[in-house]
Amino acid sequence: MRILITGGCGFIGCHTIKEALDRDDIERLVNLDALTYSGNPENLSETNDERYRFIHGSINDTETLTSVLIEERIQIILHLAAESHVDRSIDSVQPFIETNIDGTRTILEAILNCMKEGLEIHLVHVSTDEVYGSLGPNDPAFTEDTPLDPRNPYAVTKASSDMMVQAFVNTHGISAATTRCSNNYGPNQFPEKLIPLMTLNAMEGRSLPVYGDGMQIRDWIHVRDHARGILATMDGLLDGRLDSGEVVNFGADNEMPNIDIVRTIIRLTGASESQIEYVTDRPGHDRRYAMGFEKAERILGWKPEIDWSNGMKDTVEWYRSNPEWVESVRSGAYREWIEKHYG
Ligand code: NAD
Ligand code: DAU
Repeated sequence: MRILITGGCGFIGCHTIKEALDRDDIERLVNLDALTYSGNPENLSETNDERYRFIHGSINDTETLTSVLIEERIQIILHLAAESHVDRSIDSVQPFIETNIDGTRTILEAILNCMKEGLEIHLVHVSTDEVYGSLGPNDPAFTEDTPLDPRNPYAVTKASSDMMVQAFVNTHGISAATTRCSNNYGPNQFPEKLIPLMTLNAMEGRSLPVYGDGMQIRDWIHVRDHARGILATMDGLLDGRLDSGEVVNFGADNEMPNIDIVRTIIRLTGASESQIEYVTDRPGHDRRYAMGFEKAERILGWKPEIDWSNGMKDTVEWYRSNPEWVESVRSGAYREWIEKHYG
């Protein structure tokens, strides 16, 4: 198999690359990443495999994309590149429209152009549970049939890209599957997101900024379980267990209010409850996500394997024992964001 992954220097991308390179049936793995503030080559510094190639470039650049697809004889694209942080999309949605919507459009048109030349290129489009909207306390978990109801600018751009993929499947007959996953945690996550931000602040004696009442619920999955899910979707699309146009949800039955996570981090780092600071809520904050993943289990034989308490213990330990990585992501851009958002 010859694979192009987009956004492979990001959090989920780097774990997907590592999982993929553990497999013998992968002949080539090309990573196209623009290295935005959240893309960090350090995430792959130990990846030393002759099947792997990194290309510094943007999915929005049609020429680069098309030449990589042709030169590298790519058979399948795992599309993860995105602007991924909800708070930043509230601040400014333009980069989200450019990367998440227009970047996905560029990939779809490149696939179409290759199809016209007689090449077949499949696509796994990596999306999110946020496209389904927000659940009430007693609502059942999202399924693949839950109608789309995105409620923040990031989620709208992801839902829009999902619909664009469906349109290209329906109109142009391209081969694509879409994955939707719940909140990921694990090593290498950029410390603007809840778990790494709270972990580093806790360890450094800083305040722990909990939005609103801290009772918003997310459904947490270890990043390596998600990475295996992306590869399982690729396998399912290629061997016909999934039809083109299908969606697969991934989750791990770990629903938890944010404040419980912050308390877990306090316990694991030996920080103090007095570091908790309730701050102004995120505007339009979705109250609850919960992911039904029965389809992934039934059709792909996938299930989450990493238990929450072990996963969290290892994750906190990883941030503690990788100060060079932490330093490498704390660029000027990171400091500016923290200053602007948290004051
Ligand atoms: P991330 O922000 O850590 O990584 C994004 C990567 O995309 C970075 O390496 C960045 O440099 C790259 N990138 C951005 N714009 C690009 C462009 N124009 N061209 C090429 N590369 C570009 O994000 P993540 O958390 O790893 O998320 C990856 C994907 O998974 C996203 O599509 C996101 O919507 C989805 N997702 C994330 C989660 C989560 O909990 N983090 C859950 C479900 C789905
Ligand atoms: O659900 C999947 C989504 O999960 C992905 O699609 C997104 O790319 C990813 O960023 C994540 O979105 P969230 O908004 O859920 O993640 P975040 O880590 O930003 O926030 C998790 C929860 O914690 C959310 O309810 C907001 C809250 N929070 C977050 C931060 C950064 C705080 O209370 N304080 C904070 O400082």
